[in-house]
Amino acid sequence: MGHHHKISADQPDPSSSTATTSQSSGSAPITVDIHTHTYPPSYISLLTSRTKVPYIHQPSDGDPRLIILPSDDDPSKPPHLRGRPVDKSYSSWDEKLKFMRTHGISLSVVSLANPWLDFLPSETAADTARQINDDLNAACESQNAKGDKHAQLYAFASLPLSAPTEQIVAEIRRLESLSCVKGIILGTTGLGAGLDDPFLAEIWTALEDTQTMIFLHPHYGLPDAAFGGPEVIARSGHVLPLALGFPLETTIAVARMFLAGVFDRHSRLRMLLAHSGGTLPFLAGRIQSCVEHEREFVANGGDKQGPTRTVWDVLGTNIWLDAVIYGKAGLKAAVEAAGAVGQGIEGSERLMFGTDHPFFPPLKEKDGRWASVDSNLAAIAGVAGAEEEVARKILGGNALRVLGIEI
Ligand code: URA
Ligand code: ZN
Repeated sequence: MGHHHKISADQPDPSSSTATTSQSSGSAPITVDIHTHTYPPSYISLLTSRTKVPYIHQPSDGDPRLIILPSDDDPSKPPHLRGRPVDKSYSSWDEKLKFMRTHGISLSVVSLANPWLDFLPSETAADTARQINDDLNAACESQNAKGDKHAQLYAFASLPLSAPTEQIVAEIRRLESLSCVKGIILGTTGLGAGLDDPFLAEIWTALEDTQTMIFLHPHYGLPDAAFGGPEVIARSGHVLPLALGFPLETTIAVARMFLAGVFDRHSRLRMLLAHSGGTLPFLAGRIQSCVEHEREFVANGGDKQGPTRTVWDVLGTNIWLDAVIYGKAGLKAAVEAAGAVGQGIEGSERLMFGTDHPFFPPLKEKDGRWASVDSNLAAIAGVAGAEEEVARKILGGNALRVLGIEI
């Protein structure tokens, strides 16, 4: 990853007290969107060629439909009514840049949207990943070559997780040579068994060695039964899977990593959690308390190895959070949790603005400002209050510093 600052995960960010060097105080804050997705045309074709989730259904008349969430594939509906319509905002760079202009976003770190490459056959996964990552990098390079400092693009790449481990590791190392790649986006299933899978060890090591930022993003949600079954879900569309399933999926994935000692063995991992960490900031105290009261753990006289670092230490060292939470109460919890350990870092140094574009568009007029974006901006303004510097960091300063982007 070109120009990558080798900021070790277990050190306080050395530039935290000088985070304003790249943006002089007094000028308008630079807004960086680190949570924004695209489906490159090659990926759209791949989905269109499929008939099982994830797939795109192209009816003979009418808009194509994207069926990617398990709950989208409702067999009681004909395919042209399943999922949601896919329009050009899902793959067009012009649409991405227009959206950025409308919202005053100068730089976007774009990632493939869910479910990434999780479903690919093992034999072709590595080739497909290289192709898609190269395409994404080339698109960003050609945009940046135009020299418009208010319309820059960088990317989080995707890994071929169904490929043999050595091919996954090779792709992690190859990404270092792509100048616009600033990390990877990762789902919660890992190699299929979750992120506490011991078979991920070599992959974690490669991600640590390269100090790659891992953008952890949900896709699979929770089983329908958690919400009362498919009938309940059918009554409220995407609300339960997206509002609760997604953030709980992220929370569970990170809690499992923590409990399995992944952050003890790989103490230099760098992870950016989607949707402000799901519910992790809110539940961190309860997780830590349950660990300290668990009789099964060696530290408490049992025979099972529990985590040795605290959840607060991990939050203040290995984890960054996006600010895609749509409300001040949640963002406040995220900032508090991120800064709760004495690392010499304020929690507000670990939060980064994002939009989740092209998801959550206005349902009618799409050309103006998006309410989903404005509610995230309002939450940042609410948390920052009179502290302009806090808003400046969350809006873009942190992303530039942590991802090592110079503009
Ligand atoms: N819906 C999705 O499928 N993905 C997102 O990132 C957001 C909403
Ligand atoms: Zn997203």
